[in-house]
Amino acid sequence: MTMTEPQEDKRPRRMRRESERIARLNQLADMGKLAAGLAHELKNPLSTLKLNLQLLEEDLADVPGVERSKTRLTTLKKEADRLRQTLDDFLRFAGRIELRTEEVGVNAIVEELVDFLHPQAQAHKVRILTSLSAEGPRCRLDVNLFKQALLNLLLNAIQAMPKGGELLIRSLASKGQAILYISDTGMGIPAENLPRIFDAYFTTKKGGTGLGLPTTRRIIEEHGGHIAVTSEPGQGTNFRVEIPLVDG
Ligand SMILES: Nc1ncnc2c1ncn2[C@@H]1O[C@H](COP(=O)(O)OP(=O)(O)OP(=O)(O)O)[C@@H](O)[C@H]1O
Ligand SMILES: [Mg+2]
Repeated sequence: MTMTEPQEDKRPRRMRRESERIARLNQLADMGKLAAGLAHELKNPLSTLKLNLQLLEEDLADVPGVERSKTRLTTLKKEADRLRQTLDDFLRFAGRIELRTEEVGVNAIVEELVDFLHPQAQAHKVRILTSLSAEGPRCRLDVNLFKQALLNLLLNAIQAMPKGGELLIRSLASKGQAILYISDTGMGIPAENLPRIFDAYFTTKKGGTGLGLPTTRRIIEEHGGHIAVTSEPGQGTNFRVEIPLVDG
């Protein structure tokens, strides 16, 4: 399979990119402190709410003629769960992240994720292809977080191909960086949406949170890495992820 390499970044752009990355991380660190405080304040009352709704439900279980109240209770419980989920999603994006890194091979992580996603891909008629660097690039990674970051990209790719297609994952090592390309043959991203896809809560999906990509970018940048995207509407989308090599 042949694909043209995107051109390597020139130095001034690299420097601009780096200062943008640091500004974003600082902003998130500030937000993270606020978020952790807010989450703490919200979590306890939410648990109390949920517990009391459950108790109320039990109280009413054998009472005849209160069907409407029971339905209302079910709605309230669902909404309390939704609030909790919203809080958890937000914290995953903006909360404090402490990396627990170890030196690992990037290819092994890709292979594990591909195995994990195989049934889901098959169900969506998506063929996953890999082309992994024989050099076996090694990076210092928080494996769980990094897997979460890649998983968001792979799920987006599968979701972008409702009629099936191909998902190609390539790895290589270049100029001190491990580089991963994640390409799909899906619907692509309209040019007007492209600058917004990393914005928190930007989504075009019913039921999407719009926190998948911002969380992915946060995790990659916390690792000292970088993510970029190119897309051709109707043709597909290509994400490029860069992470410093251990011996780079
Ligand atoms: N591979 C892709 N192909 C086409 N569009 C994409 C792709 N990846 C992301 N997008 C666009 O970017 C938007 C934001 O993606 P993001 O992962 O942040 O949120 P989401 O996928 O909508 O919601 P969630 O991740 O919670 O399911 C998507 O709604 C979609 O419009
Ligand atoms: Mg997503």
